[in-house]
Amino acid sequence: VVQNDFRGKKILITAGGTKEAIDPVRYIGNRSSGKMGYALASAAAARGATVTLISGPTNLKAACGIKVEYVEAASDMRAAVLAHYNESDIVIKAAAVADYRPQSTAEHKIKKTGDTLQLVLERNPDILLELGQLKKQQMLIGFAAETQQLVLHAQEKLAKKNLDMIIANDVSVPGVGFNADHNIAKVLYRDGRIEELSKMSKEHMANIILDKILAECRK
Ligand code: PMT
Repeated sequence: VVQNDFRGKKILITAGGTKEAIDPVRYIGNRSSGKMGYALASAAAARGATVTLISGPTNLKAACGIKVEYVEAASDMRAAVLAHYNESDIVIKAAAVADYRPQSTAEHKIKKTGDTLQLVLERNPDILLELGQLKKQQMLIGFAAETQQLVLHAQEKLAKKNLDMIIANDVSVPGVGFNADHNIAKVLYRDGRIEELSKMSKEHMANIILDKILAECRK
């Protein structure tokens, strides 16, 4: 790794899963630990970038020198990301954002009454789609977590969200992906190239992803 090869670059990274409140004590969430996004933030900062990390709730501590904004729901993440978007050179969206949220959040703890309980969910904003539509100078990198037809779904997201690169994770493989220390991924580009990243630590993968981002920036 070349130290300081990201000096002068402003990188915005999202990490972790969002929590969508059902009532004051319950939420809808997902299994993202934030490890992949935090690894990217640490690696980018170590390589000289100015890093802003927008983090969902995690147990992780960001490395010294990284500016972190903590958010909970997708709507909070959207506001935080949009506030930093214009000034960013590179945006990496490793967060697992809930696609749906409860239509209403109960003011008080929901009591156990009937045998079943129905929740009505409504769509959350797709933050990355919006970033793709607003894109100017930014290089935009998304992640895709899939359990089937990995390449096909990742290609669709790359095109629809106007991304420069997407990191596709097959999250059905045990021991990698969500809440694991390792990951396996495919990197897809706009021109159709696909590169394979074999099983490795998220720290190692973060540095390889940054190498690839830099190579694209220099084209
Ligand atoms: O956090 P870890 O435990 O380390 O696990 C890492 C990871 C598996 C969560 C991560 O590497 C990963 O794959 N993140 C993306 C998970 C995801 O939500 O994928 P998706 O296919 O649903 O979303 C595609 C892209 O759109 C993502 O970049 C996501 O941040 C973004 N998105 C999705 C929905 C939404 N409403 N807004 C978004 O911005």
